[in-house]
Amino acid sequence: MDIYHAPDTRVIHPSILYFGTPVVLITTRNPDGSTNITPMSSAWALADRVVIGLSGGGQGLANLERERECVLNLASEDMCEGVERIAPTTGHHPVPAWKQTIGYRHEADKFRLGGWHAAPSVSVSAPRIAECPLQLEARVLLTVERPIEPWHGDAGGYAIIELEVVQVHAHDEIVVSGTQHIDPVRYQPLFYLFRHYVGRGNALGKTFKAEV
Ligand SMILES: Cc1cc2nc3c(=O)[nH]c(=O)nc-3n(C[C@H](O)[C@H](O)[C@H](O)COP(=O)(O)O)c2cc1C
Repeated sequence: MDIYHAPDTRVIHPSILYFGTPVVLITTRNPDGSTNITPMSSAWALADRVVIGLSGGGQGLANLERERECVLNLASEDMCEGVERIAPTTGHHPVPAWKQTIGYRHEADKFRLGGWHAAPSVSVSAPRIAECPLQLEARVLLTVERPIEPWHGDAGGYAIIELEVVQVHAHDEIVVSGTQHIDPVRYQPLFYLFRHYVGRGNALGKTFKAEV
């Protein structure tokens, strides 16, 4: 009979629990008609819904609550440097005090700073980011506000937002020819894992439900 030796474990108290999710660049329309880009990674999908978490005080959150639509642009591995260039910025003016203390600055043109180009959307007013291999146009279905108590984050609480995806755009090169499917080998999303950027590594297999 095999004896299984479980790995030793220890109890730890990490400051964050970002266990690895894709980097999403959310484009939203500002009150003056310009576009904001919010880099974020607290996002998950179920069928045509995507649920995101945004901390309080950000421009992207304010825009989403007002306009109730956005584009979720999935960053690729080769966009890592541009993502980090816009990381210490906010479209919000003035910069919230807690962000100022850790070095955030205001940036009105994150397309320029990231080195990216805008492409018009079909169903929402915010443009897509042309360089992103997957671009999901979405509308807000539900917003749940979570005030600062009992959350112990440093920002002004956070919001959980449920989005309905209404248009999906994919770069030709990541679509399996003649199908509606994303090629899991050619699609190379950028992941955010315990505040580090990582790529996806080798494909390891597929689930029994995979259609290609
Ligand atoms: C890779 C990455 C992932 C992030 N994930 C989130 C997130 O999931 N939720 C969030 O509220 N902020 C997240 N942030 C921080 C926001 O980008 C930051 O608050 C930014 O100032 C928001 O910009 P805005 O105020 O222009 O919307 C992330 C930042 C980076 C660089």
